[in-house]
Amino acid sequence: MIGQAFQQLKEAGVLGINNRNAEYIMRYNPRSLYPLVDNKVLTKRLAKQYGIPTPVLFHVIENYGSMKNLKTMLEDIKEFVVKPASGSGGSGIILIAERTRNVFLTQSKKVVTLEYLSYHISDILSGIFSLQGHEDHAIIESLIHPDQVFSAVTYQGVPDVRIIVYRGVPVMAMVRLPTKDSDGKANLHRGAIGAGIELGTGQTITAVHKSKIVTHHPDTGNPVSGLQVPHWDTMLSIATLATDMTGLGYIGVDIVIDRDRGPVLLELNARPGLAIQMANKSGLLKRLEDVDAAPDGIFTTPEKRIAWAKENL
Ligand SMILES: Nc1ncnc2c1ncn2[C@@H]1O[C@H](COP(=O)(O)OP(=O)(O)O)[C@@H](O)[C@H]1O
Ligand SMILES: [Mg+2]
Repeated sequence: MIGQAFQQLKEAGVLGINNRNAEYIMRYNPRSLYPLVDNKVLTKRLAKQYGIPTPVLFHVIENYGSMKNLKTMLEDIKEFVVKPASGSGGSGIILIAERTRNVFLTQSKKVVTLEYLSYHISDILSGIFSLQGHEDHAIIESLIHPDQVFSAVTYQGVPDVRIIVYRGVPVMAMVRLPTKDSDGKANLHRGAIGAGIELGTGQTITAVHKSKIVTHHPDTGNPVSGLQVPHWDTMLSIATLATDMTGLGYIGVDIVIDRDRGPVLLELNARPGLAIQMANKSGLLKRLEDVDAAPDGIFTTPEKRIAWAKENL
């Protein structure tokens, strides 16, 4: 029985976790390059060199000593985001959307004080949100205002577009849409939904929510398919360039669409999840193998790689 189910998955070209780790992550992502994507401050610096926009960095808090200046640091900033430099899965992130002098309102309308933020930043520094549990730095960056295109299928917060890039070729994409459960964040395990995107057109297909296929947003009730992602070609270019800049061969590129600035790189992931396959009703393995089987010499420039992906995947 298990053998049969496994065979069916294999035939559908679905990539499993062991295969992802052994054949793709271990082979194409050298460990020494992980810090470039696991540390969001380093990712921002690198992106800047390549002309890729990221949320504006207001401050990096590196130690407890500099926290006594927090009040002054935040004085002129109306809205901002506090996050761990080496966090993941949306943990430790606070989105501040409004404030008076010393009282702050989060995106999901929770009231927090300066003292609360200060405790939170100490927690970040201690490393409780960091990937390896090591001491961490806290980032204070600009709040992204999402483009209105996904407003009918978003409950507060900012949707992000995830593009998987393999050997410099974009192979699969989805847009993750926050829900009531996900607290303004677009992480799937927090309850956001992920809608697959057709690479050739940039249109949404179907969605996955808590490991099930859904056709409508659970809170707004609106259909999630047939939406055109704006700036689609720019997003594919950013994703491709972002992988060139890290030297990693298998990566998830997360991009948000700011209503004023357009596509902005949020973060990179060296171990991107596999649920994207459900959102696309399509297997990754098949696409990765198609890339490997493509004739030599057709992937010489990013433009060629993108054109090939739009045509063939
Ligand atoms: N600057 C920001 N402005 C608005 N929303 C943000 C910002 N940064 C993060 N978010 C929200 O939080 C989610 C997680 O943030 P991200 O930077 O990707 O961290 P993580 O590595 O924990 O996933 C994003 O998908 C987005 O929905
Ligand atoms: Mg993320």
